[in-house]
Amino acid sequence: MKKIKILVADDIGETRSVIKKILSLEDNLFEIVGEADNGEEVLRLIPKVKPDVVLMDINMPVLNGLEATERITDEYPSVIVIIMSVQAENEYLKKAMFHGAKEYIIKPFNYDSLTQTIKVTYDKYKDRQIRALGSREEIREGKVIAFFSSKGGVGKSVLALNSGLVYSKEKNKKVLLLDMDLQFGDISMLVNEYNEKTILDAIDEGQLDSYESVMPCLYKYNENLDILFAPGKPEAAEYITKNSVEKLMNLFKKKYDYILIDTGVNFSDITLYVLDYAEKIVFVSNMDIVSLKNTKLGLRVMQSLGYDKNKVKLVINRYKTDYGISRKDVEEVFKDGIFAVIPEEEKTVLVSINKGEPFCSGTKYNKLKIGKAIEKLCKDLVD
Ligand SMILES: Nc1ncnc2c1ncn2[C@@H]1O[C@H](COP(=O)(O)OP(=O)(O)OP(=O)(O)O)[C@@H](O)[C@H]1O
Ligand SMILES: [Mg+2]
Repeated sequence: MKKIKILVADDIGETRSVIKKILSLEDNLFEIVGEADNGEEVLRLIPKVKPDVVLMDINMPVLNGLEATERITDEYPSVIVIIMSVQAENEYLKKAMFHGAKEYIIKPFNYDSLTQTIKVTYDKYKDRQIRALGSREEIREGKVIAFFSSKGGVGKSVLALNSGLVYSKEKNKKVLLLDMDLQFGDISMLVNEYNEKTILDAIDEGQLDSYESVMPCLYKYNENLDILFAPGKPEAAEYITKNSVEKLMNLFKKKYDYILIDTGVNFSDITLYVLDYAEKIVFVSNMDIVSLKNTKLGLRVMQSLGYDKNKVKLVINRYKTDYGISRKDVEEVFKDGIFAVIPEEEKTVLVSINKGEPFCSGTKYNKLKIGKAIEKLCKDLVD
């Protein structure tokens, strides 16, 4: 197995010795490739010794650990920085994480806390590290698809999520699902996963200059699908500006093949920006009369925004023939036609939501009518 290459940065020689001693007890796992007593020295050494991980003290002369971390994140995004600090430096710790440190460890530490922190952090980020290295020159041209509706609860999130899963099965395609229902986003619940970091952390200043620094905020759902969750609290939405979303999108666009955006029911600045930015808008409606009426109004807004029918695609979700309104009736009202129809499959959908296991997550999803319909929708959207 490949050893984890470590660069130790601390201005106190004794601390470096203790760390070296601890790590040498597992010399089949760790290799100390360099030592530095200030931040400047760390930056000088990185290209020479190519560490996987830098253990970084905060208070160091010449260039302190915070500034050094920020520069490493910029210049060597594949290097994982773990901050070492004493309890009293709490404020600095937060800053260090904002500057791109992946983890921190409180001094004094013992054998277990040091080795475990390095191992766990390295395992968590090594794939991303490889990806960052491998894809440094690789530029993708993401297709951006927004899921929108003018009435709540019609199935935007269910469709966005399951479409993301369908796209993620394509070989070597990178998919991002962005929960831009900033107040009430529930993608996190639908997959029954919790990520400490959300879009709120991703847009924090200092995170937005490179994709690599936003990466720790993403939840890796599978090999090809990353998810950026909405903030956990409705009031957090007001801290997210259009400007920062714009920066985020520009970073993502180059890194993913498909970017799917779930939105909330509103025409806020940010929603409008997302709708503008998207290449395609999946406009979701149900078969009931209220939903259809709102959809009609919503589509009119789209028209007034100058979007043409190639951009806005009407998708009828929860389609069922015995609701008193037929597909033909609907088609008569929407002259540009229905782009796709997704059947009502109450049990499949509800069970998948309650279990937090999206019905398109397995390999047999296209045995289901609803899975097949979503697969077709996905294909038609990018044809
Ligand atoms: N095809 C379907 N068949 C049966 N039930 C469905 C289907 N699609 C969605 N649902 C049901 O509709 C409910 C709402 O879905 P979802 O949360 O995706 O809607 P939404 O448009 O994102 O809502 P909101 O506006 O609150 O964000 C889900 O709880 C699910 O039970
Ligand atoms: Mg939703």
